[in-house]
Order: sequence, then structure tokens, then C-alpha cells
Amino acid sequence: MNELDRDIVRVLFDSEAIEKRVSEMGKEISEAYKGVVPILVGVLKGCIMFMSDLIKHIKIPLKMDFIAVSSYHGTQPTSGAVRIVKDLDHVIEGRELLVIEGIVDTGMTVGYILRNLQARQPKSIRLCTFLDKPARRIVNVPIDFCGYKIPDRFVVGYGLDFLQLYRNLPYVGILKDQVTGLEKT
Ligand code: IMP
Ligand code: MG
Repeated sequence: MNELDRDIVRVLFDSEAIEKRVSEMGKEISEAYKGVVPILVGVLKGCIMFMSDLIKHIKIPLKMDFIAVSSYHGTQPTSGAVRIVKDLDHVIEGRELLVIEGIVDTGMTVGYILRNLQARQPKSIRLCTFLDKPARRIVNVPIDFCGYKIPDRFVVGYGLDFLQLYRNLPYVGILKDQVTGLEKT
């Protein structure tokens, strides 16, 4: 057990389970986009581990791009005020987009991204998220591909952070309340 593991109260998905689920998602996405070349739009930085594993299991041609957004006040949960800090490199008009997220919580972040991308008139936009935390949803976002639904707990690892830490954990775990300073729900 290392110093990151010590802050985890419970492992929700270990790396073996994740590998299996992500490979299933890759197959599903390969089927859904047969005959088209989608642009996968990764939402930085939470998407990194998920997206890099997922694309190994997508067996059709695809392009990749990235967008990064930041909420106006630093920590979670967000106020809903969002701005783009890194925009796409591609022109996406007429293209088929698949947005790749690490987690959807209130839905405000990805809701903003979807609206912003929609305004650039792509042919289609679908959403793929590794985790879905439906309990706190405020903005209703349609999720087309979902790895796991999770309860209303703060999770880290597999790309997801707390104060930019823990992204490198190869599994998803619930962070100890002593670390987050959040009340248990
Ligand atoms: P939103 O509430 O769906 O807009 O998500 C707000 C931000 O908080 C996003 O950047 C999410 O990635 C992040 N977030 C929400 N819940 C968690 C969590 O349990 N662990 C880590 N990040 C989270
Ligand atoms: Mg974060």
C-alpha cells in the first residue's frame, strides 16, 4: 500500500474490472460508428486514462481532439460558470463527435461543452462518460455510452482528481472524508 492508496476508503472498480468494462464500451462504440470517422473529443484532464484505454478497443478509423474547461471558482462542486481554457484544433462543422468525459456529476460542465460544440454545427454529438453520478444531476444531459453509474460519493483515480492529485491511481476509489473535508452523505 502506497501513500495514495492510504487515502482511499473503498475501491469501487479495480483495474481488471475497468479493463473489461472499457473493452466492452470500445466494441459498442465501434458498432455505433461503423462507416463513419468520428472525432473523439476528450474533456481534459479527467478523460486521460479512460480515453487512452478506450481507443485501443475502438476498431474503426477515428480522429482525436481535446477541450479543457475551467469553472470560475476552483474546487468542486462547480458553480456552473464554465469557460474554455483549451479549445479544439479541428473544425467540427458537419463532423460526427463523440465527447469523452471522466465523470458526469451535476451535468453543468459537460452540459456547457455540449451546447458550445452544438453551436458549431457538427452532424452529430454523442456523449461517452466513464462514470455517471446521477444523484446530483442539475442539467439533464443525454448519456449515450456509460461505464458505470455510481452513488453520490467523491471518487478519485483513473484520471479523476481531488485538487489535481490521485489521477494516477489505476483504479477508482472513494476518498476518505478526512481528506476531502466533505460530510458523509
Ligand atoms: P459537473 O458537476 O458534472 O459539472 O462536474 C464538475 C466537475 O467536478 C467536473 O470536472 C468533474 O470531473 C468533477 N467531479 C464531479 N464529481 C467528481 C468526483 O466524484 N471525483 C472527481 N471529480 C469529480
Ligand atoms: Mg477535477
